[in-house]
Amino acid sequence: MQGTAIAQPNIALIKYWGKRDIDRNLPAVGSISITLRELHTRMHVELDEALDADVLTVNDEPDENMLPRLSACLDRVAGAGRPRARIASTCNFPIAAGLASSASSFAALTVAAAAAAGKSFDVARLASLAGQASGSAARSLLGGFVELENVGDDIACRSLCDAGDWPLTVVVAITESGPKAVGSTEAMEISRRTSPFYSSWVDQQAEDLDTARAAIATRDFEKLAAIAEHNCLKMHSIMWASRPPMVYWNAATMRCLQTVRQLQGQGKGVFFTIDAGPQVKAVCLPEHAAAVEAALRATAGVVDIMTTGLGEGAHLENQG
Ligand code: DP6
Repeated sequence: MQGTAIAQPNIALIKYWGKRDIDRNLPAVGSISITLRELHTRMHVELDEALDADVLTVNDEPDENMLPRLSACLDRVAGAGRPRARIASTCNFPIAAGLASSASSFAALTVAAAAAAGKSFDVARLASLAGQASGSAARSLLGGFVELENVGDDIACRSLCDAGDWPLTVVVAITESGPKAVGSTEAMEISRRTSPFYSSWVDQQAEDLDTARAAIATRDFEKLAAIAEHNCLKMHSIMWASRPPMVYWNAATMRCLQTVRQLQGQGKGVFFTIDAGPQVKAVCLPEHAAAVEAALRATAGVVDIMTTGLGEGAHLENQG
């Protein structure tokens, strides 16, 4: 009655922002992401009839905040009549700071919980269950370049290119390590309700997805760079124009963007993307990773750097 799974976060190049069904957590738009390799969340789930309530530790410390969302995910995977669970999560990168910790957490939790409950779900079902907990988590079930599509009243994830077939490097510039002020779930709803740009975002997404898919199929880095930066800035524009406005960037975030522009001016293969947080993810060709890392490290306000390749999808470590 226990399972341990490991999952890597993913970074969206064409973003998920907005929901078409809040209750079932269905995204308003499709998205394309890359799954990372070096960052990970490990989840251990043990179902125990002797427990009265679910208990959670995060990095060995008791944690109540995340528990309701994790319990709801366990109910969906193992059934509401399941025994209560002991959940232990360990994560080797900052949590809730715009580094997609919810994606790796819920992907790992879904796989571990299915194993603990003795359910043999296929990847499509696991992705759908993970997505109900957190939209981006569905994409962490697969490795490399992953597309999440809206299909009927569900989602479907598929691999566009394996990690080894286009081995890009991601340099994450951490500009602040605390948790973010507004979580993405709430920020998406504020955007949908109040941003004058939200409907054009939804309308244009299919075109951005087509462009990115074509760039990935032909390994066209310049084309992918242009559409990913455009899509990212469009997503942040929605938030800036919302009421209240939501600005996740700080001064160092902006300076990192300038560093990326300078590197591009020197002919380096690199582009930026930013999620609901102040960190800048610089996606680059492996031969330029050292230069990108050095330039971002030297950028004022950058407190840490993490460099990673692309990795595999979530998987089970053990079951018993
Ligand atoms: C900016 O998946 O965290 O990272 O479904 O409400 O849990 P919920 O949202 P979440 O949102 C991710 C938003 C994003 C873009 C992306 O990963 O596609």
